[in-house]
Amino acid sequence: MNEVTRREFVKAASAVTAVGATTLPAWAVQENRDPIKIGFIGCGGRGTGAANQALNANENAVIWAMGDAFEDRLTSSQKALLDEQGSRAEVPKERQFVGFDAYQKVIDSGVDMVILTTPPHFRPAHIAAAVKAKKHVFCEKPMAVDGSGVRSVMESTKLAKENGTNLMSGFCWRYNLPIRAAFKQLHNGAIGDVRSYFATYYSAPLWTKPRKENWSDVEWQMRNWVHFDWLSGDHIVEQACHSVDKINWAFQNETPISATAVGGREMHERLETGNVFDHFGVVYEYSDGRRAHLHCRQMPFSYNDNNDYITGATGTCTMNGWSGAPTFTGSSDFTYIGQSPNMYQVEHNELQEAIRGDRPTVNDGDFMAQSTMMAIMGREAAYTGQKVSFNDALNATTVLGPKEYAFADFELPAVAQPGATKLNR
Ligand SMILES: NC(=O)c1ccc[n+]([C@@H]2O[C@H](COP(=O)([O-])OP(=O)(O)OC[C@H]3O[C@@H](n4cnc5c(N)ncnc54)[C@H](O)[C@@H]3O)[C@@H](O)[C@H]2O)c1
Repeated sequence: MNEVTRREFVKAASAVTAVGATTLPAWAVQENRDPIKIGFIGCGGRGTGAANQALNANENAVIWAMGDAFEDRLTSSQKALLDEQGSRAEVPKERQFVGFDAYQKVIDSGVDMVILTTPPHFRPAHIAAAVKAKKHVFCEKPMAVDGSGVRSVMESTKLAKENGTNLMSGFCWRYNLPIRAAFKQLHNGAIGDVRSYFATYYSAPLWTKPRKENWSDVEWQMRNWVHFDWLSGDHIVEQACHSVDKINWAFQNETPISATAVGGREMHERLETGNVFDHFGVVYEYSDGRRAHLHCRQMPFSYNDNNDYITGATGTCTMNGWSGAPTFTGSSDFTYIGQSPNMYQVEHNELQEAIRGDRPTVNDGDFMAQSTMMAIMGREAAYTGQKVSFNDALNATTVLGPKEYAFADFELPAVAQPGATKLNR
């Protein structure tokens, strides 16, 4: 830790002692070691999981602050963390923040690092504020829901590089050791030049929470965020972005020139409200004519699959997203024989090592912004029914969501209609 952080720590530690609560574990006090102070924003399933993994990654870390839009989510997360981690995860009430401005309060609370795990809509602003404050960042995928959000993330990426702070994405397959080894083989020519890529993400729909009488439109939508394009970006952006990221990884961050797509809403109409599609089929086209294809679907009682089928000049590679076991045919007989630790834990192990200076600073910004943008571009091609160029999608003026945040009325945005919905809307 640098001197400024050290001084802040001493100040903050005395302040905490003064109000009679401390999150400092006994060993930190006894051994006079400065803990890494972690704040997390978005205390749901992934936020709580990531907080656990960050603590597991560094015994010299504490959860310092928490923020959520809703008090009940924060309280249940704190309980789960206390059950799992004990006093290292105990956050005093004065550093538990609730509301739309909770993120800024967590960032300003004296943390060294933040975990950003709200619904994706809020991610660009949260990344920007954290990077501006020179915090190390772990941010879940996807990074944004529209071009304007991605443009902001690109700015934050530049600033994090200037600051020398870590910016790690939750594109977790990048931290899956067998998959990482397979991509290394691919990039080293194990199947020759990659000629085409076909990725599937077929799964069941995610959860739905029935609306309560006292919920405003915004509360209802935020508690059911996966069903609203302004919050999740639709499932192609929220979930299948993992597959898009692997396409982007295989093409070594080369920008596709355009996307065409089909998509629609068959089962959602009968099962749920919300305005998202339940299936997409996208073709990404690269400047040399190569194509990558993505099929994704969230439907019940249907065949589930999460595979990547990669065809190269001299062989093929298949990667299963759920089993994590890559297989090669043709010119390569590569078989991964190393360990396969939990990729969510590997993310935080590597981030803590980078924060300690035991490995180079991490900045995932370039690929995380581009993979997110490719998923948005695919969605926009399906929503509009048009061939959409990467640049037009990136520079689109559409900003999804309400202009101001409040738990108030917000009419359900219309379901997109291919042929009628515009890129700039
Ligand atoms: N990498 C992975 O495999 C993986 C797995 C699951 C989720 N995720 C990602 O993690 C993120 C969170 O997903 P989740 O499953 O934890 O959802 P969740 O609904 O369980 O948690 C989201 C939390 O954010 C809170 N929140 C909403 N708006 C907020 C705001 N403006 N400020 C502060 N808090 C706010 C919610 O109240 C909720 O507690 C999503 O982007 C999702 O795509 C990634």
